[in-house]
Amino acid sequence: MEIEASWFLHTLCDYSFWFLVLIITVIVFSLFALLIYLQKLKLWCNCEICDAYVTMSWSKDFDNLCDWYAHLLSKSPSKTIHIHVLGNTITANPDNVEYILKTRFDNFPKGKPFSMILGDFLGRGIFNVDGDLWRFQKKMASLELDRFSIRSYAVEIVNYEINTRLIPLLSSVAGKEEGVLDLQDVFRRFSFDSMCKFSFGLDPRCLELSLPMSEFAVAFDLASKLSAERAMTVSPLVWKIKRLLNLGSEKQLKKAIKMIDILALEVIRQRRNMGILSHKDLLSRFMGTVNDETYLRDIVISFLLAGRDTVASALTSFIWLLAKHPHVCSSIQLEADTIIGQNQDLKSFEQLRELHYLQAAVYESMRLYPPIQFDSKFCQEDDLLPDGTFVKKGTRVTYHPYAMGRIKEIWGEDCLEFKPERWLKNGMFFPENPFKYPVFQAGFRVCLGKEMALVEIKSVALSIVRRFQINLLSAYQIPRFSPGLTATFSGGLPVLVRER
Ligand code: HEM
Repeated sequence: MEIEASWFLHTLCDYSFWFLVLIITVIVFSLFALLIYLQKLKLWCNCEICDAYVTMSWSKDFDNLCDWYAHLLSKSPSKTIHIHVLGNTITANPDNVEYILKTRFDNFPKGKPFSMILGDFLGRGIFNVDGDLWRFQKKMASLELDRFSIRSYAVEIVNYEINTRLIPLLSSVAGKEEGVLDLQDVFRRFSFDSMCKFSFGLDPRCLELSLPMSEFAVAFDLASKLSAERAMTVSPLVWKIKRLLNLGSEKQLKKAIKMIDILALEVIRQRRNMGILSHKDLLSRFMGTVNDETYLRDIVISFLLAGRDTVASALTSFIWLLAKHPHVCSSIQLEADTIIGQNQDLKSFEQLRELHYLQAAVYESMRLYPPIQFDSKFCQEDDLLPDGTFVKKGTRVTYHPYAMGRIKEIWGEDCLEFKPERWLKNGMFFPENPFKYPVFQAGFRVCLGKEMALVEIKSVALSIVRRFQINLLSAYQIPRFSPGLTATFSGGLPVLVRER
């Protein structure tokens, strides 16, 4: 018995020993793999730019990361820089942009790293896929977003939202000292309603301030913000470990996405109950072909993301700029009075198209404040950009519309000034080369909702400028942005409104 016990103890010690050896070996190998991975990422690169990025010393001189990038890019002779610690080549060179978005489109897809970052939120939605999944959604969406449907359907939706909700809301606070309004929030509610109506045929009534902000919109905002924050971590390992352990921001993101899933599926259910055949909205069109509920959910979310925050962002910076440039406001009013008639309301899409100065002012505003400040692709095979920059396979390549709007070689010495006239020739709006101005992207993946966006931005801005005077309450010279997939003023756009 004693022998058996000592044999048992001995064997146990033996096993524990080998078990310990095994654990240590696994740890050593994991550390080794991590080291190789970190070395690949060049996490400890101490070039001036990487050092400033990692230590955040850039923030001593610049309010926003995009302003620092714009500064570096405008100083760079090739208009291209490298952030080694992020494995990111950033360019503001129009020839490079054309090469990436058109000439070598197939070599610069969105790629796996991007779709992983946004995968939990966007799934297989159009923003997050390449290849056949992308081609299918693009074809379906193009049918819905073509010019005819924009004219007949979008103008109607936008005018309804303006006349029955936006103007009554602004009138209700006009002239009241206590009536401070955050216009950024108002625009987000406006574009959420418009996009839901246009894309799904449903009205969440977010702009009726008496109702609480829809749970869908709140969860949507949070998921968009937290997903964007993933892209800012030095290594994806950071958010992946947090996700694995369900910690902090990843725990919040999971909760927001769960809420979005429930609400998106509810949108699909309601749409199905209303019957899809008689309706021509985007979702009905997809529902006629797609049966997979999760795929439909992904499509719903991507289109909301595409059309909601971008328009709200464009409107926020446009109204901010107009408040700072009253002479531009006066020119918009004068043009509208001439074309539409004094005290007359906008009647048609055709009238909107005749407002060349307004169109120029909108383009100029987005030149300086593009709603999507930068956009990244991943290089599939080693390549050489037109400016001579070598790009290694697997590198993230980013083009930067925000920086491009601030480059003298592209826009001239007055590039920092807000001057709608630069878009006019003999009083007519004259578009620029889209690779110089990739605000709506360009090439094969150009924005499909550009016309719809322009209808919304121009109609809303016009209705505000003609009826109200907007007084800004924040005194900053340049906006401060919060992290997110689209440019968002941190602290919103608080204003006081007066009737004209
Ligand atoms: C001022 C407003 C807008 C701006 C600045 C804008 C800008 C952009 C940009 C930069 C992209 C490329 C994104 C990428 O591939 O990573 C894009 C794609 C897209 N946009 Fe817009 N957008 C706006 C409004 C809209 C609206 C209102 C809609 C829908 C009604 C829309 C629908 C889309 C779609 C479907 C795509 C995907 C195109 C594709 O991948 O082939 N956008 N947009």
